[in-house]
Amino acid sequence: MMYAQRLEHLPPYLFARIDAMKAEKRAQGVDVIDLGVGDPDLATPSHIIDALVEAARNPATHHYPDYTGMLAFREAVAEWYRNRFAIELDPKTEVLALIGSKEGIAHIPEAFVNPGDYVLVPSPGYPVYQTSTLFAEGKTWNMPLLEENGFLPDFSAIPSDVCAKSKLMFLNYPNNPTGAIAPLSFFEEAVEFAQEHDVIIVHDNAYSEIAFDGYRAPSFLEVRGAMDVGVEMHSLSKTYNMTGWRIGMAAGSADIIAGLGRVKTNVDSGAFDAIQMAGITALTSSQECVEESCAVYKERRDVLVSGLRELGFEVTSPKATFYVWLKVDDSMDFAAKMLNEAGIVVTPGIGFGDAGEGYVRFAITRSVERIEEALERMRGVFA
Ligand SMILES: Cc1ncc(COP(=O)(O)O)c(C=O)c1O
Repeated sequence: MMYAQRLEHLPPYLFARIDAMKAEKRAQGVDVIDLGVGDPDLATPSHIIDALVEAARNPATHHYPDYTGMLAFREAVAEWYRNRFAIELDPKTEVLALIGSKEGIAHIPEAFVNPGDYVLVPSPGYPVYQTSTLFAEGKTWNMPLLEENGFLPDFSAIPSDVCAKSKLMFLNYPNNPTGAIAPLSFFEEAVEFAQEHDVIIVHDNAYSEIAFDGYRAPSFLEVRGAMDVGVEMHSLSKTYNMTGWRIGMAAGSADIIAGLGRVKTNVDSGAFDAIQMAGITALTSSQECVEESCAVYKERRDVLVSGLRELGFEVTSPKATFYVWLKVDDSMDFAAKMLNEAGIVVTPGIGFGDAGEGYVRFAITRSVERIEEALERMRGVFA
């Protein structure tokens, strides 16, 4: 089969490759402990499921949804942003429903990037920033996230000719895969950069609610001027264990939201209304369920981090996200050793971009018992 050239240029989707390796091991009878993919093992809270069931029984929800999302859903997003970040959004023009934040990230370059324009992407980073740029025929410029800079990009290292040809920048804090967080002063710098170079900022805040030790992640939109230069992609996936439901939102500049909306109108028909109604319940009910999830992740994080330290690894305990980013010599070798000798899946950092080399990512989306079992197996391999 002759595929279009753009498919030839795509890097292999890392998680699909890992899935194949995992399946092979399982077929060999190995009891694989999967600390690879960032998909919560916790169930969606029951009040959200109840809201879906009730909404799905109403035939009014069975039709094509509104392209921009139900107004009631967008109002719920605005209310959540007000309560959580003290940000005022106009639900009619500054909020858009997404079929998961991945969908918004995948489509936004189509609205703003012309062939040959640069898109500034973090490396390591969520792979979709790269592929969505390729689909829009843009060029990616990798911004290395280095440990010595707290895994924040150094804007001053971007060459001026690249700045001049850049249309869009992706940022993501709390960060996948490094688990790093960003202070508001970093977002202020990003807004200054965007104003100076006329670059749109797309901040991916998918992990804002998964935080520990009293840390509360900010929204990029809290910074003065951010609403003029950027949007935030957000999602119910990680916050409410709803990855399979496919519901998220974009919030921010009305002009940018309108551009993304024009792409979406032509390629999708929105999220199922019943799911949006369940989303309203999630966003507007008590957020105790989120605290409960964070308590579960915190216990797992502490078990994994202290176990890794006992094994002699140097590792930072993340204040947010459900990822632990471990420094190793060679990421592919380490991941292969983990799978072949311990039956444990971790994600090699190189899969998130060149600057991810030298690290692997553990996702703490498995029970404490399984994490303890993984550490026990690692003792057999590394002790
Ligand atoms: C950084 C980041 N952004 C966005 C997403 C996409 O999430 P969703 O499409 O489920 O909202 C993910 C999923 O793993 C992610 O890690």
